[in-house]
Amino acid sequence: MTNEVGRTDTNGLVRAFRDAFGREPEGVWSAPGRVNLIGEHTDYNHGLCLPMAIPRRTHVIASAREDRVVRLVSRQLPGERTVALDRLLDGDRGGWAAYAVGVLWALEQAGHRVGGLDVLVDGRVPLGAGLSSSAALECAVALAAVDLFALRGFDGDEGRRALARVCVRAENEVAGAPTGGMDQTASLLARPDTVLLLDFDGDHAPRHVPFDLDAHDLSVLVLNTRAQHSLDDGRYGNRREECARAVDELGVASLRDVGPAQLDEALRRLSDDLLRRRVRHVVTEVDRVTRTVEALQLDDLAALSGLFEESHASLRDDFEVSCAELDLAVETARAAGALAARMTGGGFGGSAIAVIRTVDTDVISAAVEQAFADRGFREPECFPVTATGAASRER
Ligand code: GLA
Repeated sequence: MTNEVGRTDTNGLVRAFRDAFGREPEGVWSAPGRVNLIGEHTDYNHGLCLPMAIPRRTHVIASAREDRVVRLVSRQLPGERTVALDRLLDGDRGGWAAYAVGVLWALEQAGHRVGGLDVLVDGRVPLGAGLSSSAALECAVALAAVDLFALRGFDGDEGRRALARVCVRAENEVAGAPTGGMDQTASLLARPDTVLLLDFDGDHAPRHVPFDLDAHDLSVLVLNTRAQHSLDDGRYGNRREECARAVDELGVASLRDVGPAQLDEALRRLSDDLLRRRVRHVVTEVDRVTRTVEALQLDDLAALSGLFEESHASLRDDFEVSCAELDLAVETARAAGALAARMTGGGFGGSAIAVIRTVDTDVISAAVEQAFADRGFREPECFPVTATGAASRER
């Protein structure tokens, strides 16, 4: 693996921190991006999803400050951001810096005492690719804050779930992206060679489902379409509002309360076709997560293939969050020999994933690149990933 993906040069990061801030860092923390195997737009509907952490991580090198100012420098983006913690909500929130400073704000809202920070960010989760670069930044900053301000209550899986909720609040209320909790939970709780079965109906502990691709000579290939994906431009929020409208019309607590057996009856009671399609996606998608877990337990790749195909079609036709680039990536990967393929994450651009035989990595990547060139799309970025571990302190 290249340096970019795997081993990050932490000594280099420490030197860069000294250059930027003229002082010693107190530690280095990192958090992974994620792909979601299946279960899309279900988290905010109290449903199920099945993400895994990927080896692309965001590193945060930080030291606490005496005052309540946060200074941030990124190795990927130009300029220094300076944000006063006490004026965060008043005006300019610092663009990308809002994801980091928002976490400090949300920790204080949850009753924890924090202060200012000097932070150098090295983000190797591709930006705008639907691979949760923002959650990776939030989670790495959250771990840094827990250590640097000696915060209590964030140990173990329980504590990490509480920390994930803090990060979601930062994203929703400070960064202005109305996302559910899948990305932050995956980044803070994932384990190697497993996918995380998350149930957002109530307070369920996540289940770690074995997903040892190497043992079967399989890989997950990420197909980053490079079609711009954003979660704060209103389209993701529209889907949330449509689901909320359906919940009102049906008089249920959440769409999770509509099981597959009640779907037809629920569809009859909805006032328009758009809401019917949105509800049909959510209800069938939650069911597909359960069936995917069964397929993984039985090593049933044929079943997995069918479930991925149904999921992609449902996101494309009923939930309407796919796009031409995602559809092309999925169709081409399948035609070139992928065992299963679908879009992953919020959609409107971003990435697709394909479960492939590892030997087919180059052939399938080349087929997708060629298809994009033929259609005049931007060159996609194809790279295999394994299921890796959660956010951690590096030194
Ligand atoms: C984004 C959001 C998640 C989830 C997915 C869609 O990644 O951050 O909360 O809703 O989209 O499954």
